[in-house]
Amino acid sequence: MPKRSGLVVARTRGEARDWYKSQRALGKRIAFAPTMGALHDGHVSLIHIGLGKADVAASSIFVNPTQFAAHEDLATYPRTEDSDLQKLEAAGCAFCYCPSPAEMYPPGDSTRVTVKDLSHILEGEVRPHFFEGVASVVSRLFLHVSPDVAVFGEKDYQQLLVIKRMTQDLGFPIEIVGGPTKREADGLAMSSRNAYLNPEERTQAAAMSKVMFATAAKVEAGELIRAAADTAKADLLAAGFASVDYVEARRADTLAPFGAETCPAGTSGRLLIAARLGKTRLIDNIGFVRR
Ligand code: PAF
Repeated sequence: MPKRSGLVVARTRGEARDWYKSQRALGKRIAFAPTMGALHDGHVSLIHIGLGKADVAASSIFVNPTQFAAHEDLATYPRTEDSDLQKLEAAGCAFCYCPSPAEMYPPGDSTRVTVKDLSHILEGEVRPHFFEGVASVVSRLFLHVSPDVAVFGEKDYQQLLVIKRMTQDLGFPIEIVGGPTKREADGLAMSSRNAYLNPEERTQAAAMSKVMFATAAKVEAGELIRAAADTAKADLLAAGFASVDYVEARRADTLAPFGAETCPAGTSGRLLIAARLGKTRLIDNIGFVRR
């Protein structure tokens, strides 16, 4: 197995198994932060969180075809493996699994993992294929890398809940940990897809987090949820966004609607937002507790 100075790179499930068995033999607990590459500081922070919870950190780089619809950006998704591996090594990561599509989905493959309910709301309404692709690949990555802890960014909050549900339902002996969203200086949530924004769009994109924080503060203070969301949508369009997929305040644990005009006092919520800027679709979310 090729080894950069401090990072083992595996390309097959057999090589991944050899690595995790070697770690188990040394009595080490493994933390795992799966990625699709094009790494930024948000990914690096997940490695650091993992190292705080286990003895060694592992990652993966795999642009997963099953979570892209035919019209989406699978072909153009940024692929920067060399610099990604350097960043992982610099972050203290010991292992990276970089399988081929055929390694993850062997010839004749026909097995999928579906997390019902949670997969069909919010992001799942706009991207119906997405969470089945995520649950299918993450369950395989869990089997190939066999971690004790797995860390996922809260930037993809619904994905985090889907993975927690899947892990519990399938009985993976893995602790799932959420990592706080990393933001640029102007508040934009870090994302590999931010690279698609042209300079003008990049400036306009800062409006998303500002609108999100302002809307969450209103809901937290007991304002009408629908009115706050409608104002947020209008503000995003005025800031240059082409369209808004959703602005929703939901229960933090299940993403169910509150079923009331205001968020009930004392409840924990999540404000979730998705909108398109030019050809780029941006998502963000933030937690709140109703006073
Ligand atoms: O969040 C991501 O980068 C991907 O959805 C994941 C979890 C690595 C699965 O492909």
